[in-house]
Amino acid sequence: MLIKNLKGQLSAIILGVLIASSATAQKVDVAKEFKSAELQTSYMLNEVKDIVDTSKTLVSPRTFENGKFKMVKSNDWTSGFFPGILWYIYDYTKDTKWMEQAKIYTAKIEKEQFNKGTHDLGFMVYCSVGNAYRLTKDERYKAIIIQAAKSLSTRFNPKTGVIKSWDHNKDNKWTYPVIIDNMMNLELLFEATKLSGDSSFYKIAISHANTTMKNHFRADNSSYHMVDYDPATGNVIKKITVQGYADESAWARGQAWGLYGFTVCYRETHDKKYLEQAQKIEKFIFSSPTMPKDLIPYWDHNDPAIPNTPRDVSAAAITASALLELSTYTKNTGYKAKANTILYNLSQSYKAPINTNGNFILLHSTGHKPIKSEVDVPLTYADYYYLEALLRSKRMK
Ligand code: GLY
Repeated sequence: MLIKNLKGQLSAIILGVLIASSATAQKVDVAKEFKSAELQTSYMLNEVKDIVDTSKTLVSPRTFENGKFKMVKSNDWTSGFFPGILWYIYDYTKDTKWMEQAKIYTAKIEKEQFNKGTHDLGFMVYCSVGNAYRLTKDERYKAIIIQAAKSLSTRFNPKTGVIKSWDHNKDNKWTYPVIIDNMMNLELLFEATKLSGDSSFYKIAISHANTTMKNHFRADNSSYHMVDYDPATGNVIKKITVQGYADESAWARGQAWGLYGFTVCYRETHDKKYLEQAQKIEKFIFSSPTMPKDLIPYWDHNDPAIPNTPRDVSAAAITASALLELSTYTKNTGYKAKANTILYNLSQSYKAPINTNGNFILLHSTGHKPIKSEVDVPLTYADYYYLEALLRSKRMK
């Protein structure tokens, strides 16, 4: 890695001791957080409804940037998070008014089940329809999940052993790009096999996870953002970044996607190698010499401008949710303690006052810093994984 020195390693050890000793003192108040999430999301719904009613295509809020509220179409990778948030609030409150809204906004994403032009079906369909099916057991949602898995599977090439992430390719920069984020699509495939009995989805997920494990990780267990493959031979062409600071740096959200993705792979397969991979990623993240004391990472662990560079709250929220699941598979109590520290700090220092921040819950996420897009803003997926982590935390009590 770019930054690795004794001073950094010592501060990482001190950080670990601090987390362990403060873990019991810092506990997020889940009930209080859901109360304010409900209120904030009620304001959000009013805002979104007006836009959706006048626009024929915008369906979901994504961010609030430069004083402007940004909504997306159903084929945007973030479209499923808002319905997912509504499902999580329903899950917690069991108030059917939230289910009604969740159904309305889920319906607007459903057509993406036929989208074969992106790998993002996991985010779009599983975060919306996946939660819908989990909470209603409506057979219609089941059929959508299976169809989405079929569409996603068309992007798998047995030669490369992985699902192609993007079709867009400005300036011919890559051939068959696979980003670490793609690990987040595997949950949809595992679920589709359970629902349909068709093992082809499971096999694709396993192949993707194994190939990613082989090619995406560095010796220190940080991951590259993108690996580009030759689809004819399956060989790796190059390893680069698009959203991170540098090709050889550790983009914070990418590390979080990897941690979450391999934890899911262990849940679905019970194959120890995935558990070990998740544990190695966790170790990398929390040994990072640049990890701040509050465990909300800078947007890239290796940005030389640290500490004068933005954090990425979305990476922290994804990590907290993944850590809570990971903690159930091992005796390591540190995972849960770190997740609790993250959740507590998000609730105390990164939450927007009600009816501000475009009515998003959390502040200070970073979307795509290299192109100066969505820097130090709220992001719908930060809120989604925050609520998911809060629900997990409640269930684990
Ligand atoms: N999956 C895109 C991102 O994490 O920004």
